[in-house]
Amino acid sequence: MTKAPWWQRGTIYQIYPRSFQDSNGDGIGDLAGILARLDYLAWLGVDAIWISPFYPSPLADGGYDVSDFVDVDLRLGDLATFDQLVARAHALDIAIVIDIVPNHSSDEHPWFVESRSSRDNPRRDWYVWRDGRPDGSPPNNWLRVWGGPTWTFDETTGQYYLHLFHAKQPDLNWRNPAVKAAMFDVFRFWLERGVDGFRIDVAHAIMKDPELRDNPPAAGTSLMHREFGEFDRQMHLHDRAHPDLHPVYRELRAILDSYGGERPRMAIGEIHEFDWDRWAGYYGIDLDELHMPFNFGLLGIPWSAAAVRELVASVERALPAGAWPNWVLGNHDEARIATRLGDAQARAAVLLLLTLRGTPTLYYGEELGMRNVAIPPERVQDPWALLNPDRPSFNRDPARTPMRWTAGAGAGFCPAEVEPWLPIGGDLEALDVESQREEPRSMLALTRALLAARRASDALSLGAYAALAGAPDDVHVFERTGSGGSRAVVVLSFASEPREVALPALAGLAVAVSTHMDRAGEQIGADGRLRLRPHEGCLVQPPDVS
Ligand code: GLC
Ligand code: CA
Repeated sequence: MTKAPWWQRGTIYQIYPRSFQDSNGDGIGDLAGILARLDYLAWLGVDAIWISPFYPSPLADGGYDVSDFVDVDLRLGDLATFDQLVARAHALDIAIVIDIVPNHSSDEHPWFVESRSSRDNPRRDWYVWRDGRPDGSPPNNWLRVWGGPTWTFDETTGQYYLHLFHAKQPDLNWRNPAVKAAMFDVFRFWLERGVDGFRIDVAHAIMKDPELRDNPPAAGTSLMHREFGEFDRQMHLHDRAHPDLHPVYRELRAILDSYGGERPRMAIGEIHEFDWDRWAGYYGIDLDELHMPFNFGLLGIPWSAAAVRELVASVERALPAGAWPNWVLGNHDEARIATRLGDAQARAAVLLLLTLRGTPTLYYGEELGMRNVAIPPERVQDPWALLNPDRPSFNRDPARTPMRWTAGAGAGFCPAEVEPWLPIGGDLEALDVESQREEPRSMLALTRALLAARRASDALSLGAYAALAGAPDDVHVFERTGSGGSRAVVVLSFASEPREVALPALAGLAVAVSTHMDRAGEQIGADGRLRLRPHEGCLVQPPDVS
């Protein structure tokens, strides 16, 4: 097998720590809970876990408002448990990726408490403070994705401070070298503790226009895959993605590269950028910036063969030579894939995710086909939803509900008599690990089979990608070819009726995995003919591999 670093060859599994496993019966998932479930993740066959923020936080934004970057929230554990988690994960050959939030801190972080205390405090310039305009309005016209201005007036010193997100998440001033040095020390702190990689929150946001100029108006087309209203009527030219962030990521890369150890250290950035050439810029001209900018393309396209084919082609075309792609179906900010597309389509989607060229990130519960859970109004936690009561689609809680380990009350997440921090959801039949482990055709069995196939095949984990022509319009077929001639073909139907393909590339191969989990080993004849049921996908390989 070709040698390749873990972050290229492997699959990343995202854990929202408050929702994975409660270990002490308070209804909140915690680090000891993750530790207890590492054996499950090893059994599933993932290579790395990314843990969303577990730092001390007043929870104004689900932990993305950090009041101490170098500690663990009391409710989630402590540093000693974190160290155990790293050690046990490494023993199982699972890499640890942690979320880091460099763009902002909590307003309760001591840095901000000092910064807001007086205009001449030494930390004043650690955040972005400005006078209002002569009429008293905010310094410029920037808007939050969440609605309203990015500025809040602070009575104590009579100036506005900048916050791209919640008012309790003031933006750090990355143009101040002391801030950069302090945040780089945060990275070093976790690198010393053995962390293998970082997921960098809103990595495109840390550098803004130095003059903080107004954004120009825009036609109103959405920058992302959601409609944001007023936010979409500006071109986000000055409030994000200033080219000065590239030297920062080059410096960070040098720090990561300076750490030795068994696994090279990795950074993957959350980049909301759908112009693929600009997106590709985050790899760095000499591949010396982020190892990967997250690719959210699959979140924004309709579920059709044409859209998938075109998206993969665009991403592949934009990739700089030698850069490694990655793919995502869901995360803690998005509706669950089974809810977005439907159950059958979610199976096809996981087959696509785990067979495309590039590192897949699997969101916890995706392997079960977990769906959005309805949140009663009085239990809504997400600030984005609380700030936009008229926009239910802004609520991210439905995709952050507890992992379902068993069918009973508490779902094996927390004791039956305890109310978990978010509802577990109704009595959905067989939507839990225990039931699906027993069921050979379950989504869990499918995910596990695909992860195993990916690991076993150089073609699937590292090989080249080529779309194949000759299938019906609503079927996407692609081939992966690895070193030493290994190959795999994926045939994926987007149709709600049966389809048939007949392709020379399939002749003599055999079905290794079908999304329906009932035809492994089926041989394909010399005519290359394969029938597909509605929304069926098949991974097809030489018979000796299957
Ligand atoms: C990122 C996170 C999101 C958070 C925001 C502000 O987009 O994924 O959950 O609300 O940053 O930190
Ligand atoms: Ca707990």
